[in-house]
Amino acid sequence: MWLNNVLETIGNTPMIQLNKITKDLPATVLAKVDYFNPGNSIKDRMALKMLEVAEQEGKIKTGGTIIECTSGNTGMGLALAAVVKGYKCIFTTTDKQSKEKIDILKAVGAEVIVCPTNVEPDDPRSYYSIAKKLASEIPNSYHFNQYDNLANRLAHYETTGPEIWEQTGGRITHLVCTAGTGGTVTGTAMYLKEKNPDIQVWAIDVYGSLLTKFFHTGETDMNEVHPYVSEGFGEDFVPENYDMSVIDHFEQVTDKDGAIMARRIAKEEGLFCGYSAGSCLQGLMQLKSKLKGGDVVVCIFHDHGSRYVAKIYNDQWMMERGFLDVKSFKDIVSSRQSKRLVTAAPTTTVSETVEMMKKFDIEHIPVISNGELIGAISEGGLFQKIFSNPEIKQAQVQEVLEPAFPVVAFDTPVERLSHLINKDNGAVLAKDEKGDYHIVTKYDVIQSLAK
Ligand SMILES: Cc1ncc(COP(=O)(O)O)c(C=O)c1O
Repeated sequence: MWLNNVLETIGNTPMIQLNKITKDLPATVLAKVDYFNPGNSIKDRMALKMLEVAEQEGKIKTGGTIIECTSGNTGMGLALAAVVKGYKCIFTTTDKQSKEKIDILKAVGAEVIVCPTNVEPDDPRSYYSIAKKLASEIPNSYHFNQYDNLANRLAHYETTGPEIWEQTGGRITHLVCTAGTGGTVTGTAMYLKEKNPDIQVWAIDVYGSLLTKFFHTGETDMNEVHPYVSEGFGEDFVPENYDMSVIDHFEQVTDKDGAIMARRIAKEEGLFCGYSAGSCLQGLMQLKSKLKGGDVVVCIFHDHGSRYVAKIYNDQWMMERGFLDVKSFKDIVSSRQSKRLVTAAPTTTVSETVEMMKKFDIEHIPVISNGELIGAISEGGLFQKIFSNPEIKQAQVQEVLEPAFPVVAFDTPVERLSHLINKDNGAVLAKDEKGDYHIVTKYDVIQSLAK
């Protein structure tokens, strides 16, 4: 038994129980994992539906051009549908989106135009304006406009909602879902509330979007809007796909909390999901006090983690934004039992220095004169010198001095220290708040990174 084409694999995605992150919650928490769709996101559902409705309404004919503003996932769904049904695709997107998302769209035959993120929607450079302009210029083209095209929410009313109802055997009490165009949350909620009006629908938003304030006040307050790095959800206007009457609560999540939770979902539940899945579950965790025993919560996980490997799944990216707690020089010093720095004076003899190395089990000794760092002695350097001239043992340290170790700030991140320590330089120094020097060696850095 085979399928006629890839579009027939859209939908009927699995519902998977979360067992670790949510173990202290009184409720059963289930994830509707929509990265199992062929384009790796839930948006395949609405992309196909929007195309089918446009065809039925005569808005586009085979061989025509699909035009859309998309952060990647809708584009992927439309591109797959276009390949199977014989259309061209032109997508406009913003420069905030992952490069991977854009390359993936190109891989499935789409043309992608990247536009600036931080301009008003009605600015002629915005990705909305450019899409509209292209649609007016290219014959037999149609701008799908996922924001205001109600076929978007219809797809979820017809597929996502019924699947969730069936998979939970009608036991769902809460739907938790990130909200962008509003298609997923509204369409799914419309169906579920028809089945059981008591089901609570919690929409998850990001700080920097105006949706939450609009939900509470009916005001589209542009003061709420600021750039954010979360992808796929949150808006700076209210798309037509929303019917706020089927949503019971809006909850905002920070970029940092969403990203950290996405990483936990991968590590603790084995589900390698996108950024918004992290934000979705984080939103639920922020609301956990509202849950009680017997509740059955369904979180929608929109897309797959592979599109975010250069972002939330990249430690450097996370650290640059302050999303990961970074260990520093200071942390290494604080975790040590002995805090005293072993130093030598310029007049200390080489044999005394070797004794100190043996006694304290160290390889690097800074040389200090009148409180000033004047150089260093290292086991490696001494070995070379004693080997070629055994007499040197009686010499003073100042005669065999090596360059002083670099001095850095006390709170320098360990990652940065690892760049300063190399074959010519085995240690780094920093002064603490009291003005005392401390040392960090290659061994300390390796140990701290391995923890
Ligand atoms: C990854 C991701 N999460 C969440 C959403 C929000 O879904 P909706 O636009 O249906 O509100 C989208 C929509 O593009 C998305 O791509």
